[in-house]
Amino acid sequence: MVREILVWPHPTLKLKAQPVATVDDSTRALVKDLFDSMYAADGVGLAAPQIGVLKNVIVVDTTPRQPDAKPLAMVNPEILSYEGKIDYKEGCLSIPGEAEDVERAAVVTVRFLDEHGAEHTLRCEGLLAIAVQHETDHLKGTMFVDHISSLKRELIRKRMKKLQAAQEAEKKEAAAEARKARAGGAEAR
Ligand code: NI
Repeated sequence: MVREILVWPHPTLKLKAQPVATVDDSTRALVKDLFDSMYAADGVGLAAPQIGVLKNVIVVDTTPRQPDAKPLAMVNPEILSYEGKIDYKEGCLSIPGEAEDVERAAVVTVRFLDEHGAEHTLRCEGLLAIAVQHETDHLKGTMFVDHISSLKRELIRKRMKKLQAAQEAEKKEAAAEARKARAGGAEAR
């Protein structure tokens, strides 16, 4: 199911997510929702807190840019090692329309459980390495804008506040329309 993606600075995005004790059907349902929501929004990664679930679960799919990669669900991901440096213009589905250069490790080794509970250790390079660092950051309540200058961050915060206000107004309008339609239907009966 496609879920609503929270927009920064939503308070939930600042909270620390919790480890998953047992990988079960509810974990797999969460993974499916994350993939559905990520693909609907045309992203390459999504973390559970972004849909309001404070669990250590992320999904990544860098296949459009890395044909050898595959879609990955990672439960309780833990980065074991960092190598090298890379600058990349990052975006985030919780900060729509914005992108800024962030410095990351060029290569990371990550240990995680898949959606069936099997443990994997994976060496990630390129966009996959960046996505894994970006998404595991979300589990700690860290956004890519926490890695850029405070001046740039505050400008983005202002734009997001405006965007949220517009979205709220739109929601209210839709609710009013729905009420009107229901009232109209009642009159017709
Ligand atoms: Ni993000």
